[in-house]
Amino acid sequence: MTQDLTQELTLLKKKLARETDARKQAENLLETKAFELYEVNETLTNSIRKAKNNSSRLNAIMNSIPDGIITTDKDLNMLDINNAAEKFLKNSRIRLMKNSLLPYVCPDQTNAYQDLCNKAINDGISGIEEFDFKITEDEIIATEVKISVFEHDDEYFLLHLIHDITRKKERAQEHKQLQEELAQSAKWEAVGQLAGGIAHEINTPSQYIGDNLHFLNESLAQIFTLLHNALILKKQSAADGKYADLNQKLDQLIKEYDLAYLIEEVPEAVKQSSNGIKQISRIVGAMKNFSHPGAKDKEPFNINSSLETTLTVSRNEWKNVAEIVKNFDENLIPVNCIPGAINQVFLNLIVNATHAIAEKSSEMGKITITTRNSADGIDIYFKDTGCGIAPEHQKDIFNPFFTTKEVGKGSGQGLSIIRDIIVNKHKGTIDFQTTPGQGTTFHIHLPEHPKEGTSSC
Ligand SMILES: Nc1ncnc2c1ncn2[C@@H]1O[C@H](COP(=O)(O)OP(=O)(O)OP(=O)(O)O)[C@@H](O)[C@H]1O
Ligand SMILES: [Mg+2]
Repeated sequence: MTQDLTQELTLLKKKLARETDARKQAENLLETKAFELYEVNETLTNSIRKAKNNSSRLNAIMNSIPDGIITTDKDLNMLDINNAAEKFLKNSRIRLMKNSLLPYVCPDQTNAYQDLCNKAINDGISGIEEFDFKITEDEIIATEVKISVFEHDDEYFLLHLIHDITRKKERAQEHKQLQEELAQSAKWEAVGQLAGGIAHEINTPSQYIGDNLHFLNESLAQIFTLLHNALILKKQSAADGKYADLNQKLDQLIKEYDLAYLIEEVPEAVKQSSNGIKQISRIVGAMKNFSHPGAKDKEPFNINSSLETTLTVSRNEWKNVAEIVKNFDENLIPVNCIPGAINQVFLNLIVNATHAIAEKSSEMGKITITTRNSADGIDIYFKDTGCGIAPEHQKDIFNPFFTTKEVGKGSGQGLSIIRDIIVNKHKGTIDFQTTPGQGTTFHIHLPEHPKEGTSSC
């Protein structure tokens, strides 16, 4: 019995020792595993921190790019939108998310946009193409778009890089306008030189024709006095019954050559010719003034006489279309300006007024030109009784190349050049009032001493 108990005790002790051993081992294992777990956890936390860092850096990079970047799925539903794209589409990321990008492309270009996406899907990346995005009903933005494809989690996504080219297009347009203006002014200069040359050529013969006509006029007066006296003598000798044959012969000749008619008409013809040559000299003088290359810098300039010159050279444009009423202030102060440029402004306004009157009807209209002194310079008004400007055109008339005239009659550059000359080069202002069907008045204000570096309109 005692032996059995001893044996059982020994067994129990052994079992206890084994179990104690096993527990120790388990505890050691647990400790090792807990440590491993801690390490894994640490690594994981670090990785998550790093991933978060990377993602926020990537976001910061995406958002600092000035071009719009949008990722979409293959159906063009928007998934990621950077700040620039949010601003460009004028909508928040939350609202844009999951919406299709396609409705933002101008309707007539959606097929082409889809083609560009397909090209990117096939080749991995597309070329750069221009698209107009319709942001609101009235706002269309010109862009350059490039699309690339990337794969994530076995799915394909499209990355749309959208570059706003509005400024680039404006600059190209400005450049084109500048070139047109240069070409135009070169043409004006050439025509001006030619006209100046012709005026000079006409001037010399007109001067001696004028001098000769003056001489003829005076000489004819003497010849007529002589003739008058000779006829008195003839009359006396006839009354005395002398030289009857000679008198008869003379009467015959007087009748034959219609002396009475010649005495009446010849001085009149000479007078008319003198007036004609004076008119030619005035036109030639105006042409010489108008076409003179003149100063390129500002100088004190008499606007009334510039208007007179311009009216003389453009007479052929308006004489059968409109009567000109000159409402000039005789005490108009001279203003500092570039004479050639200002002449060009007046010519364009007179031609525009003439065209507007001719467009309204075939009846004679009226162009009233008024000059007035003002507080800091002068005001000039060109009032016409023409067709007026339609409301829908009023905002466009100063835009380069805007014209309502048929090809060959207008190129739409007159008013844009005028505005440049008045506003930019002379720091003045130009505005207009119009009543469709009744007429238009253009008002120009020129400061006496334009200040450099400021402009107003
Ligand atoms: N006095 C006016 N009355 C009515 N419409 C005018 C008048 N002046 C200008 N316009 C309108 O403004 C448009 C632009 O004028 P602008 O002088 O710039 O160009 P254009 O006369 O058409 O061509 P260009 O001057 O280059 O020969 C004209 O086509 C016309 O529709
Ligand atoms: Mg014009």
